[in-house]
Amino acid sequence: MKYQKKAYYGMEDTNNKIFKGDNIEVLTQIRDIYRGRVDCIYIDPPYNNDEEYIHYNDSDGFDIWLEKLCNILPLLFELLSDKGSLWISIDDGELHYLKVAADKIFGRKNFVHTIVWEHRTTRENRMAFSNNHEYILVYAKKPDEFKKRRNLLDVDEEFLKRYKNPDNDPRGPWQSISVSVQAGHAVSSQFYTIVAPNGNLHKPPAGRCWAYNEQRMLEEIKNNNIWFGKEGNGVPRRKKFLSESKIGLTPETIWFAEDVGTTDQAKKHLKSLFKNQDVFDTPKPESLLKRIIEISTNEGELVLDAYLGSGTTAAVAQKLNRSYIGIEQGEHVSDIIIPRLNKTIDDLLSEDGVRDNLGYELWLEESNDID
Ligand SMILES: C[S@@+](CC[C@H](N)C(=O)[O-])C[C@H]1O[C@@H](n2cnc3c(N)ncnc32)[C@H](O)[C@@H]1O
Repeated sequence: MKYQKKAYYGMEDTNNKIFKGDNIEVLTQIRDIYRGRVDCIYIDPPYNNDEEYIHYNDSDGFDIWLEKLCNILPLLFELLSDKGSLWISIDDGELHYLKVAADKIFGRKNFVHTIVWEHRTTRENRMAFSNNHEYILVYAKKPDEFKKRRNLLDVDEEFLKRYKNPDNDPRGPWQSISVSVQAGHAVSSQFYTIVAPNGNLHKPPAGRCWAYNEQRMLEEIKNNNIWFGKEGNGVPRRKKFLSESKIGLTPETIWFAEDVGTTDQAKKHLKSLFKNQDVFDTPKPESLLKRIIEISTNEGELVLDAYLGSGTTAAVAQKLNRSYIGIEQGEHVSDIIIPRLNKTIDDLLSEDGVRDNLGYELWLEESNDID
């Protein structure tokens, strides 16, 4: 099947594309152009839960479901850039089968982590256990590159509160951190007694040694980088300045609803966009995609979703100034994705005025046209 650009919305020349069609067919057509160029791939495939939703069926059965995923995953992996990562939403029903299959395709060394997402906050009393979480499997093309280049989460007030300036240091706020380290790999020059400015003597704590040798420690004390407490009687600690700290939080593997939203919130948000109709059964919250995209990409970089559903990934990528490719085979490309994206673009235009890459191309099978 051949796909062609049939329309665009917003600016004519953007890097953003929405394909209406089967994801394997589309990826087969675009793989040569995008090989090694995609920085974040998020997919939210059917979970094989035997449900018939308004806009798609999830009733292939285990063998076909797994076969389809095993066919698409290698194509997706090929598109990842060196720092690129692949995020797969799944629930408890198939997590373990999918993990084993994906490990075989990507190689276990490329598995990064499983994220647990609290997708509902209410208790489901009809079941033996109330299932309140889903999973996101994360793989990387080169996990070391991903680790080096992935972004940290924005800091909260709690983080900033740790930095104070009790001695009015002109270099700004700082927090004190230990200046002793475990003695395991220490050399003899790290064992000595520190003489504090008030004459107090400090030996390293049991099983530990000082992080610096004596000469360096004296320099650090002279340069006001070692803190002995407000009264000068405390255990020596190093001053770590806010200005020299990497400001951000390492993402954790448990993502709570209060930070990234729930399925219900995602549905309510979609309803609010579409005047209260029941628009789509299984959307993901924009805040969940925001976190994934912000960790894995910077502005201008490329995000791909091959099971676009209601268009969440594309809408969030557009808001975050990332380029995007979305693939969806259902008819809801016309009645959900397009109106949602158009509204996103219109809102951004009215908020920010013109900015680069605002808009998308619509690609359809050669023989099709839009309604
Ligand atoms: C769980 S939904 C994705 C929801 C999406 N994450 C969101 O936030 O709205 C899965 C989507 O994958 C689409 N899909 C399933 N198989 C596909 C295929 N072979 N090619 C393209 N889309 C497919 C379905 O039509 C459905 O819209």
